Amino acid sequence: MSQSQSGVAPGPQRGVAGRRVVVAGATSASGIAACRALADAGATVVAVGSNPERLDHLALEVAGIGTELCDLADSAAVDALALRLIASGPVDGLVHLVGGWVGGKGIAGQTDEGWAAMERSFRTLRNTTRAFYPALVASEAGRVAAVSSTTVDAPTASGADYTAAKAAAESWLRSVAHGFRADQGEDSLRAAATVFVVKALVDDRMRAESPEKTFAGFTDVATLASAVVALWDAPAGELDGARIRLP
Ligand SMILES: NC(=O)c1ccc[n+]([C@@H]2O[C@H](COP(=O)([O-])OP(=O)(O)OC[C@H]3O[C@@H](n4cnc5c(N)ncnc54)[C@H](OP(=O)(O)O)[C@@H]3O)[C@@H](O)[C@H]2O)c1
Repeated sequence: MSQSQSGVAPGPQRGVAGRRVVVAGATSASGIAACRALADAGATVVAVGSNPERLDHLALEVAGIGTELCDLADSAAVDALALRLIASGPVDGLVHLVGGWVGGKGIAGQTDEGWAAMERSFRTLRNTTRAFYPALVASEAGRVAAVSSTTVDAPTASGADYTAAKAAAESWLRSVAHGFRADQGEDSLRAAATVFVVKALVDDRMRAESPEKTFAGFTDVATLASAVVALWDAPAGELDGARIRLP
């Protein structure tokens, strides 16, 4: 059997059970759904957020997960968190869900405040992938995923800042995907970086609040959660660098 540079052979595709997965930005409806699906499938979940009350709520919603308070925009704090988590065991997955949205009136209406918020969101992806990269490379089946937007395919003037940040995030993840291939080799690839693409997300609370809306083209957070769990059901070679439009 071929060996990677780290000396670890490609692992069998045995699903997410028993894997340790960090969910970065875990307290929204999508985060709760992802944490629940991962935990139900047998993963050890470490949920990270910047708001203690929302983390407490998440811990009550999804039994058995661990929570970590961290400002993921602070690279030193992320490095410290990653070192601490890696010291206590393998990290097999990083599911990045920090988002946010800004819009402005046309190109001239894109504000510095809006761009700062989008850059800060992008920074959380850069920080977490850098800090957890060594663990993901060392894992038998490392997976990293983030959620981008259909607007990258059809940018608008009003969403220029938002879409530019999402395009940067997609580019960054493709670089991570290249890193995995460069470090592990095509034939021994065990890790994968994947972009999920949605138009918008919807959850049960949104449906209940607006029963008249069809939410056409929206992706249910349960669909995203299932796609996250399925990352461990396919070979890394199929997922590394993939851009997957979710239904
Ligand atoms: N919602 C949509 O319609 C839609 C559309 C297209 C793409 N997406 C993408 O899908 C992903 C999930 O979307 P979402 O709406 O569920 O995300 P979100 O609510 O915008 O963000 C997810 C979580 O990130 C946490 N967060 C924000 N800043 C943080 C920081 N500095 N450090 C740590 N945690 C931080 C927030 O929790 P705390 O406040 O508790 O820290 C929040 O609950 C995002 O990447 C988003 O851009 C969403």
